[in-house]
Amino acid sequence: MSRRVIPGLEAPDATLEADVRNRLDQVEEALEKSVRVESSGLLSETSSYLIAAGGKRFRAMLVLLAGYFGDPTDPRLIPASVAIELVHLATLYHDDVIDEADSRRGAPSANVRWDNTVAILTGDYLFARASELSTDLGTDVCRLLARTIAVLCDGQIREVDSSAKIEQPESNYLQIINRKTASLISTSCRLGAMCSDAPIEHVEILDGFGDALGMAFQLSDDIMDITASQLELGKEPGSDLRLGVYTLPVLHSLATSGRRDELARLLGHGAPDGERLDRALEIIREDGSIEHAREAVAGEVARAVGLAERLPLGPAGHALVQLARFLAHRCGAEVPA
Ligand code: IPE
Ligand code: IPE
Ligand code: MG
Ligand code: MG
Ligand code: MG
Repeated sequence: MSRRVIPGLEAPDATLEADVRNRLDQVEEALEKSVRVESSGLLSETSSYLIAAGGKRFRAMLVLLAGYFGDPTDPRLIPASVAIELVHLATLYHDDVIDEADSRRGAPSANVRWDNTVAILTGDYLFARASELSTDLGTDVCRLLARTIAVLCDGQIREVDSSAKIEQPESNYLQIINRKTASLISTSCRLGAMCSDAPIEHVEILDGFGDALGMAFQLSDDIMDITASQLELGKEPGSDLRLGVYTLPVLHSLATSGRRDELARLLGHGAPDGERLDRALEIIREDGSIEHAREAVAGEVARAVGLAERLPLGPAGHALVQLARFLAHRCGAEVPA
């Protein structure tokens, strides 16, 4: 199935755009095929559910773009891209159970459409399918994927462990998002470079680029959880605060706001909901903490752009820079042109 292009995620070069689109169509077809189960109607249905609901295919696109620093026609790039997207999907099914979320990609999340058990098993199945696909790509790829999933789980569990703790250094939050999100985004870049036999120095630069991009990705997702609407997000805003996940704007507000005692009180009586959640969000939106987090996004975007500029000049490098800028733009952060 061909997919619509998400505004801001078009490649800046028409030839590259057409080429990436064509490869993304191949990824889409392989992705849909990879979750079909002959023996179980329910597992087929649950595992194709979020694929059909939408999504940006951001990580799949990164695998393909990183492939331009080697041979972009290398056939390994398609299964590599599918495997990455499957891992991402698995984390979404599990994340919505952990976060008790009720919507995802503009649709009811799987834990609501079915239940937690079904959502967990579907996530497990998608991890398994990703592992199976990666065995055809060699031991190094299998090891990289397994290691990344391990780091990602560690990030998610550290987040649970830090839940509802008011006195957390920002460094703790940054370490969590690095592990739960940036790890997979940096692996997407590394994998694309590896599977196209890019020169080793470019593999390392792309890995670093993905790390910076991944930090900007989660920082901006966390800002939008406070500033954006259900319609814009396709998932419920305010979820982080309600679950006791204190993201950068919240930690900054708790440490510096003139109303920090009031905020601590609002958060200190279990999960805030209704009026308490609205008042807490209002304090965070008012006191410059969103701006502080936007500056952090801008810093990571600048780091990503600096690394992309060390790669060979060309349309793929420009596309990577554009992706980084898209992350700043989507949360209102300003980066110099
Ligand atoms: C959501 O990722 C999970 C996070 C790491 C914040 P995306 O924003 O890439 O979700 P989809 O794939 O587009 O739905
Ligand atoms: C999830 O972070 C990161 C993952 C590893 C899936 P969030 O919990 O903020 O993701 P969303 O906002 O639900 O997509
Ligand atoms: Mg979530
Ligand atoms: Mg979460
Ligand atoms: Mg989020």
